[in-house]
Amino acid sequence: MIERSFVMMKPDAVSRRLMGQILSRFEDKGLKIVAMKLRQIDEDLAKEHHGEHKEKPFFGGLVEYITSSPALTMVIEGDDAISVIRKMVGATNPKEADIGTIRGDFGMDTGRNIIHASDAPESAAREIALFFDEEEICDYSMSDNAWIYE
Ligand SMILES: Nc1ncnc2c1ncn2[C@@H]1O[C@H](COP(=O)(O)OP(=O)(O)OP(=O)(O)O)[C@@H](O)[C@H]1O
Ligand SMILES: [Mg+2]
Repeated sequence: MIERSFVMMKPDAVSRRLMGQILSRFEDKGLKIVAMKLRQIDEDLAKEHHGEHKEKPFFGGLVEYITSSPALTMVIEGDDAISVIRKMVGATNPKEADIGTIRGDFGMDTGRNIIHASDAPESAAREIALFFDEEEICDYSMSDNAWIYE
């Protein structure tokens, strides 16, 4: 089923100039970028986005990390995109993430783990609405579609 996922390259990815390499992985896979915005995330938005973790001891540090400098926010579309992208992203702790995944290849620390991706259809819908207006999400077709999907 065609799904949309909310994906964010966190401030470390932007500041370490990793955006191009990471974006290439999604393009190479055959996924479609349907929205993208480089933005400074403020404290309220970071707290809302990561609300499920508000009681955790790392919450303050997480909000500080996410708001420390600009992040690249995206909506990415494709067949089973949510689970496909989570596989590409890898485990939360980059030291444990498989080599070949984004976190496994680019990171070392859970508190600097490069990228966020939605973990389920419900969270994807919530996160997309939190970061994008519906009219900012582009509806277009890719000319190679018949070579990506049977
Ligand atoms: N023990 C920890 N120490 C520091 N930061 C943490 C820790 N656990 C989680 N985090 C931060 O909180 C984020 C959200 O944690 P979560 O458990 O939802 O992991 P995830 O779903 O793999 O990551 P994300 O939601 O960012 O895609 C992590 O990506 C990481 O940045
Ligand atoms: Mg999560």
